[in-house]
Amino acid sequence: MVTGSASGIGAATTALLRERGAEVIGCDLADAEIRADLSTPDGRLSLIEQVREHGPIDAVLAVAGGGKTGLLETNYFGAVATLEGLRPLLAQRTAPRAVAVSSTSALAPANEQVVQACLDGDEAAAVHLLGQDPSGGGVAGGYGVAKRALNRWVRRAAPTAEWAGAGIALNVVAPGVVDTPAAAYILTDPEVRKAVETAAPQPFGGFPGRPEWIAETICWLASADNRFVTGQILFADGGSEAAAVGDLHWQ
Ligand SMILES: NC(=O)c1ccc[n+]([C@@H]2O[C@H](COP(=O)([O-])OP(=O)(O)OC[C@H]3O[C@@H](n4cnc5c(N)ncnc54)[C@H](O)[C@@H]3O)[C@@H](O)[C@H]2O)c1
Repeated sequence: MVTGSASGIGAATTALLRERGAEVIGCDLADAEIRADLSTPDGRLSLIEQVREHGPIDAVLAVAGGGKTGLLETNYFGAVATLEGLRPLLAQRTAPRAVAVSSTSALAPANEQVVQACLDGDEAAAVHLLGQDPSGGGVAGGYGVAKRALNRWVRRAAPTAEWAGAGIALNVVAPGVVDTPAAAYILTDPEVRKAVETAAPQPFGGFPGRPEWIAETICWLASADNRFVTGQILFADGGSEAAAVGDLHWQ
């Protein structure tokens, strides 16, 4: 089951999985087997109910995100509801896997109160606090906060009895700038493109990356070949995170 299957990274992932013989249930706002708006509680519930009709599933790939509105609602609460809501269907399979798509934007400084409200599951408070924050309340700020909270939720959940204990690998893929409609606002304006590339260079593979490259990473983490990797934030970003963070984690 792939959310965000109609475009960009989700579409590339869906295509790759189908090419490899998988039966894929896509979910998106339109042009998908399941149409659901993951920015709303009703949409999330509808997704879970519709997937349930298909029975147990091998992998849940929470790719849907980006956007200019509903940043916390889709990128954090929609993704977590997808993963949590479908976990019981995963637990019935022999090699279940889950992957969430985050972003290198998660590396940006974030309002800790908003992140905490996300992790507490308090959507109303998180959205309210984000709106109150003059520095972190903008589009770019809200997006990074949502992805940071998602990374932290995965780090907490992955090693628990519900996930690792049930044999379910749960990982994050964090892309750098990738050539999809979501990144068009960066890629089509030469000045913005140059500024972003200079601030966050991608020395391996280039700027922008291709959605198919991210799809390959997601598909491996979601495959039965992944026997031992869980709880990881895997940056698929041409070296952008390594260039920005260096050896900080290891000091
Ligand atoms: N393209 C990039 O440079 C980049 C970089 C880092 C992370 N990402 C992340 O990758 C993921 C995929 O983005 P993309 O680049 O393929 O963009 P995209 O716009 O091509 O695809 C995103 C898909 O998600 C769907 N979607 C958005 N909001 C939704 C909602 N509320 N309910 C259901 N579906 C919804 C859209 O309809 C769209 O089909 C996102 O989570 C995004 O944040 C993208």
